Amino acid sequence: MSDKVILAYSGGLDTSAAIRWLKENYKMDVVALTIDVGNEKDFTAIREKALNVGAVKAVVRDAKELFVKYFVWPALQADALYEGQYPLATALSRPLMAKLLADVAREEGAVAVAHGCTGKGNDQVRFDVGVQTLAPDLRIIAPAREWGMNREQTIAYAKKYGIPVPVTVSSPYSTDENLWGKSIECGVLEDPWNEPPEDIYTWTASPQKAPDQPEYAEITFDKGVPVSLDGEWLDGVSLIKRLNEKAGKHGVGRIDHLENRLVGIKSREIYEAPAASVLLKAHLALEAMTLSRLQLRFKERVAQEYADLIYNGLWFTSFHQDLAAYVQSTQRHVTGTVRVKFFKGSCQVVGRKSPKSLYNFALATYDKGDQFDQSASPGFIHIWGLPVKLQAQVQLLGEAEGPLKIVGPKEQE
Ligand code: ARG
Repeated sequence: MSDKVILAYSGGLDTSAAIRWLKENYKMDVVALTIDVGNEKDFTAIREKALNVGAVKAVVRDAKELFVKYFVWPALQADALYEGQYPLATALSRPLMAKLLADVAREEGAVAVAHGCTGKGNDQVRFDVGVQTLAPDLRIIAPAREWGMNREQTIAYAKKYGIPVPVTVSSPYSTDENLWGKSIECGVLEDPWNEPPEDIYTWTASPQKAPDQPEYAEITFDKGVPVSLDGEWLDGVSLIKRLNEKAGKHGVGRIDHLENRLVGIKSREIYEAPAASVLLKAHLALEAMTLSRLQLRFKERVAQEYADLIYNGLWFTSFHQDLAAYVQSTQRHVTGTVRVKFFKGSCQVVGRKSPKSLYNFALATYDKGDQFDQSASPGFIHIWGLPVKLQAQVQLLGEAEGPLKIVGPKEQE
């Protein structure tokens, strides 16, 4: 009996070729594992293809709920946005896939797992580190990192062994998608000066062709987790799907980013992430209302660390556990509703309300009902300004240059 390897199988060209290649080069029986994270595909067809191409078994796992509950929502609560731009859709799915690869390897008594990543990207790191951490005894094989074939050669290899080459292979783009977003790379996009051609977008309408009337959406959060859309209580998967459609129709969620990969390469990435863009914005708006200034400031730093750890494949770490505990704690009162307005590619927060709001009308208003005691301000300002005044007298006044001199435009010589 041959050893078994569990291959993360997408149904695309590379992982299909990998089934054959693993048999040939490692003499292993390949079990194809296809994971549904909301990438709208025909999973029956993918299963059949895996078997036709030579897998001994083809398993499909619906992981949409797991994905949303344990990966997407915690990342949203953390406000995780890599380099301020990328909502991390692909990055979030990889640790889940690593976990399922390891689980299925145990169920099947496999000695190895395999994935279709090349040696130039982030995904190989996320898969490998994930699997190594969860199941250190498993061997990890990455055919596309080893076989040294370029795209044309892979197509030739597939043809030689009767592996169907999907029509999408004629598309010069490389894409990946799940509920939280879609990424598009390669082709003309590799010149960062080129405007992305309209036909790469499949989730979002062109803002120019978007409806001429704005549309509103109301999102209710419970402790930082979205629970209803437009007054209707929805499970996470349905809520994200609906919001992707609703915001996508208005051209919301297009992102064009020159991204820093972990392996040191700058890469031009286009994303479509309507629901993610809207929810991240709405969540921040609700936090602005329910968290104190100090909480908001510190949480912003945590958000950056959180995004980096997701991006860099450090999901299964104590560092993550610690940050997650902090983030969870901050979400205790992030409950309420945010109203957003979609129009021609833009999403604006136009209203927010919360039973735990720290916005106090009586303190804020300039109209009648004002309860702020203005007579207390001079005393406050006196003490606030005390060290400022003191330091200026001792160290700054009398200096020739510096912040106390108002320097005008440089005189012409
Ligand atoms: N640049 C993104 C990331 O590193 C997207 C990667 C997409 N992956 C893919 N295999 N096409 O997370």
